Amino acid sequence: MRLDNCHNVDDFRRLAKARLPSPVFHYIDGAADDEVTKSRNSSAFDDCDLVPNVLAGVEDIDMSVTVMGKKIDLPLMLSPTALQRLFHWQGERAVANVAQGANTWFGISSLATVSIEEIGERVRSPKMFQIYIHKDKGLNRSMVERCKAAGFDAIALTVDTIVAGNRERCLRTGFTSPPRFTLASLFSYAAHPGWTLNYLLREKFALPNLDTHVGEGSNIAVSVADYFNTMLDRSMDWTMAEAIRADWNGEFCLKGIMSVEDAKRAVDIGATAIMVSNHGGRQLDGSRSPFDQIAEIADAVGGQIDIICDGGVRRGTHVLKALAAGATACSGGRLYLYALAAAGEAGVARIVQKLTEEIERDMRLMGVRSPSELDRSMLRWR
Ligand code: FNR
Ligand code: LAC
Repeated sequence: MRLDNCHNVDDFRRLAKARLPSPVFHYIDGAADDEVTKSRNSSAFDDCDLVPNVLAGVEDIDMSVTVMGKKIDLPLMLSPTALQRLFHWQGERAVANVAQGANTWFGISSLATVSIEEIGERVRSPKMFQIYIHKDKGLNRSMVERCKAAGFDAIALTVDTIVAGNRERCLRTGFTSPPRFTLASLFSYAAHPGWTLNYLLREKFALPNLDTHVGEGSNIAVSVADYFNTMLDRSMDWTMAEAIRADWNGEFCLKGIMSVEDAKRAVDIGATAIMVSNHGGRQLDGSRSPFDQIAEIADAVGGQIDIICDGGVRRGTHVLKALAAGATACSGGRLYLYALAAAGEAGVARIVQKLTEEIERDMRLMGVRSPSELDRSMLRWR
């Protein structure tokens, strides 16, 4: 399969699977337990039908929305995801370039393979830093201070990883950061010489936002689950979340909110956005899908905080359904990660262009000229 035969996220998933060593592919594609929630995150959109209006005069449309005070040109954001130079040697640099070109929010993870400073230098469009609260309080402070100095536009505190999800594919493949070439996985790395040569010969793998304080993940190989369970602060609570917000004192998003009660508490502590998310099904399997939760959360806190539907998005119609249900915007990880793994920056640019075209086409077919014209009267749940 070639890049110009990739027309949607699923095409890129197939190409990524062909091009990646299996431990790396399954780290991206995998989720927790039986992966029921990962599947439901996308199938939830299939249980809801769109009711279009016609003859609405949709020659000129405007896809832009405003999230955390920044106007973005499409209602789809690129979620922060870890270890990107393991998926393709261009990593976060490729994603940053495409997000900038599309003028949409993108985020780098605490476990990013490119530094806060470089992204701060490289990216003028809206950028967020996703923070994991570590036991090492000096590291937490260091990340916040580095984001301030680098001019990041928002911090997203991830709140659904108080303990690692059960990622059985990673247990089977032995995936670690950095990757360990075990007897079991050696064949897969050898069978993907392109990936392996890039990994061995290009810029050394590192987690530059963490390795100032911890070696795990950078030069001490650990599974993501072990990293979560040994390095992150399990005592994290609303008091700590508010303290991080006060310390950052800027646009502040809680990533991983699913209940109405927590959405209200996010407003109470002064968060300016929530990512309604179950981490792509990688944490609590059996969790409801973000799309299914949007309506009740929007009824409770809509207008008080930006509501981002994160997870399961694979089509332009998914974005329109979430916005009609009450979301401010959508975001996704795998929707661009497969493309990154498959073809680097060219892949990410292609899938973002394809999804942009879908959103534009679907808005016209829905008879709306802006996202604000979408509402629940245009949805029917089966
Ligand atoms: C993630 N996600 C994630 N979230 C986060 O807060 N910090 C992180 O470092 C990562 N890393 C990460 C790696 C990979 C490979 C994946 C697939 C996901 C979760 C991500 O931000 C987002 O919530 C989900 O990806 C959304 O689901 P979809 O769009 O992948 O279906
Ligand atoms: C994951 C972590 C890094 O989902 O957020 O793999």
